Amino acid sequence: MRKSIFDLLDRKGQQPVSMLTAYDYNTARTIDEAGIDMILVGDSLGNVMLGYENTLAVTVEDMIHHGKAVVRGARQAFVVVDMPFMSYQASVEDAVRNAGRIMKETNCQAVKLEGGVEYADRIKAITQAGIPVVAHIGLTPQSVNAMGGYKVQGKSLEQAKKLIRDAQAVEEAGAFAITLECVPATLAKLITEQAKALTIGIGAGNGCDGQVLVYQDMLGYTDGFTPKFVKKYADLHSVMLEAFKQYKQECEQRSFPETGQTYAISEEVMQALFETEIEEVKRS
Ligand code: KIV
Repeated sequence: MRKSIFDLLDRKGQQPVSMLTAYDYNTARTIDEAGIDMILVGDSLGNVMLGYENTLAVTVEDMIHHGKAVVRGARQAFVVVDMPFMSYQASVEDAVRNAGRIMKETNCQAVKLEGGVEYADRIKAITQAGIPVVAHIGLTPQSVNAMGGYKVQGKSLEQAKKLIRDAQAVEEAGAFAITLECVPATLAKLITEQAKALTIGIGAGNGCDGQVLVYQDMLGYTDGFTPKFVKKYADLHSVMLEAFKQYKQECEQRSFPETGQTYAISEEVMQALFETEIEEVKRS
């Protein structure tokens, strides 16, 4: 049985919720099999799947394409699909239409969008249309240019107050969960205690109601920069690199494929072939 928003909300103040990103069918299946509660088809796919410098170029079509694959792979996990840059910023109408399209075409259980007080009207309209919303405040990567880079948010008194107001606004607008990205742990804990919505932290300490990580980061799949908040549960990059190198070597040495990876043909057929003129075979 797939988890519902009520199953997740029941966990508030009880057992923390686990969430990971996924962008394809097989990864979603494995994450789902591990019993992870929520899967996020993040617009981080721009960085980790498509090789863009940031998430700004990701389109609604990209999100739908990957979202469909993830939903097909997830049986029990609650699937959230990100609304990409400029799919909700321009107007409330855009927000509802694009959220509706994402939900209709992917069959996901909720959408996520970035922004606090300024985007509360979008969240309200989307939830009124019957689409559950996960809000995303703190470091909001779609605003990387306005923020002047990827920085911890809420460290000054003014910023901390703004984050508390953002959390309140998105919750009042109807968001059932709030992603808190790169927020000091004690502030994230305070927001969590104040909120009825579930808080899901990424770089926000263990006082949140749940945690989310980009799966490539936590598996050590990428060998580039890793944010401080990431814990590497595996070193997949090394494992894959070694496997690819060994494969290359074995191809070059003809030690792959071995007999076990090869299809056989009877001696008789081969003998008959050798005895036939090859030109005759080609003409027949
Ligand atoms: O796009 C994404 O992967 C996200 C997480 C970082 C929360 O929004």
